[in-house]
Amino acid sequence: TERIGVLTGGGDCPGLNAAIRAVVRHGLESHKLRVHGFRNGWRGPLDVTAQTLTLESTRGLLHLGGTFLGTSRTDPIAEPDGVARIHEALEVYELDGFIVIGGEGTLSAANTLAAEHGVPIIGIPKTIDNDLGGTDYTIGFATALDIATDAVDRLHSTAESHNRVMLLEVMGRNAGWIATHAGIAGGADSILIPEHPFDVHQVCRHLKRRHGSGRSFSIVVVAEGAVPADDTLNLTDYELDQFGRPVLGGIASSLRPIIEAQTGFATRETILGHVQRGGTPNPFDRVLATRMGVRAVDLAVAGEWGQMVGLVGGEVKPVPLAEATRSLRRVPEDHYRAAEVFFG
Ligand code: F6P
Repeated sequence: TERIGVLTGGGDCPGLNAAIRAVVRHGLESHKLRVHGFRNGWRGPLDVTAQTLTLESTRGLLHLGGTFLGTSRTDPIAEPDGVARIHEALEVYELDGFIVIGGEGTLSAANTLAAEHGVPIIGIPKTIDNDLGGTDYTIGFATALDIATDAVDRLHSTAESHNRVMLLEVMGRNAGWIATHAGIAGGADSILIPEHPFDVHQVCRHLKRRHGSGRSFSIVVVAEGAVPADDTLNLTDYELDQFGRPVLGGIASSLRPIIEAQTGFATRETILGHVQRGGTPNPFDRVLATRMGVRAVDLAVAGEWGQMVGLVGGEVKPVPLAEATRSLRRVPEDHYRAAEVFFG
């Protein structure tokens, strides 16, 4: 191996720069590779445009949020001549393969390109949602969890001062990792996640019981993709985006007036939104990104393409790229049960 390309695709998250830095530094210093950076996810290879990354270009990056290469949700398979353009990028830059740092969309495309079109790829899993297969943690989740937990802590004090129900909507369209773990860490009184369709009457009864037993406030953490178990409340009427996904804030805004009406308690909603994806990565994400970046380069040098690096039982290991997106990794029952113990 002499030359590799690197790109970041999908929604950004804290730790991407740390991963790119690790790929470049380890590639250049340990293996004497040339590393080319493609901008804006798959858009870069599709445009057949790359920049040479130097040690200098990675200085001061470790602690910065976002991705200095830029990102996009471009799907190369859906683009006209997409696959041919990717092959062209490999040829023009004389690359042995790509290191692709991405989430569900980016790594699904990577898997198709690798399995069906012979594109040499190593994947690195990132998403604040933590819902990819083949890894215990994805880059970005731990930092998003810190931010969400801080929000729960802050809502606690104002909820208590005003005797209110505080509804916090966090990200997680298909899985409730951030909601469950921030809820456990912050001591939430109810957690609503996509894995467990909820009954809003039951939630309201629970809040009333809690307040009836002397507590004057409650915190409800809801994942953006949480769904009601029944449709009697028209909760499914909230706005959908162009992909048929609930618009951010939809579930919290729909729930607030219902909770207020059914419980009689003043209720406020907070939609945490993209704050969860911004800013400096925490030490866990910096270390995970660095370990994964280093291992990905070693796999590329060994010619073990078609793999993703996963954190499995504390070790960073190669797993088949297909594992990442074969099925979404949802919150296991025991995590949710551990949270429920404290709902009282
Ligand atoms: O997949 C990461 C994620 O942050 C989801 O939790 C959220 O639903 C989505 O991206 C938001 O996407 P966008 O960047 O298009 O607003």
